[in-house]
Amino acid sequence: MLEEERKLSSVDIIVSQTDLDGFIIYANPIFYKIAGYSSAKLIGENHNIIRHPDMPKAIFKILWERLKNKEDIYCFIKNKATENKFYWVFAYIRPSFNKDGTARNYVSTRRAISYKARDIIEPLYKDMLTLERSKGVDSSEELFKNFIEQNRYKNQSDNDIMHNIQY
Ligand SMILES: Cc1cc2nc3c(=O)[nH]c(=O)nc-3n(C[C@H](O)[C@H](O)[C@H](O)COP(=O)(O)O)c2cc1C
Repeated sequence: MLEEERKLSSVDIIVSQTDLDGFIIYANPIFYKIAGYSSAKLIGENHNIIRHPDMPKAIFKILWERLKNKEDIYCFIKNKATENKFYWVFAYIRPSFNKDGTARNYVSTRRAISYKARDIIEPLYKDMLTLERSKGVDSSEELFKNFIEQNRYKNQSDNDIMHNIQY
């Protein structure tokens, strides 16, 4: 069955919070609405409950490396919703910290991916996925890192580059 897209409006902000292992401890009503789950179904689930098979593993590898390193990350994610639907987001994911500087949990805020970003990211992720299947995650990660380098202007950070792609 063909998948259908669920579009976020320009004002929709999806928020979720997870524990340090990625289990959802909070989701805002827009998350329930877009993902199609009730709050009771989402809370306590691993965040991979909405993982879409079109997403390259390398993106999540980089995401978790950054979070474990106490860094934040901007990234583009295609997610799975109920009723055979999917939705694309531009996500900002960051750790929140205890007073002693240790990580307490992780917070993600997401808005709609821009058309401009979608045109760039969708084919890139397709190539990464193909590479992952034939040569493994390391090759796909290398492709992504090369893409980042090709888009770096002067000493921009990786997050700056993702921002430039979205806007
Ligand atoms: C705060 C936070 C938000 C996340 N948001 C998503 C998301 O929207 N979609 C997604 O597929 N994975 C998200 N992840 C990553 C998942 O935890 C998981 O690594 C990913 O779905 C890949 O799952 P897998 O390793 O079981 O294949 C998020 C993780 C954190 C910590």
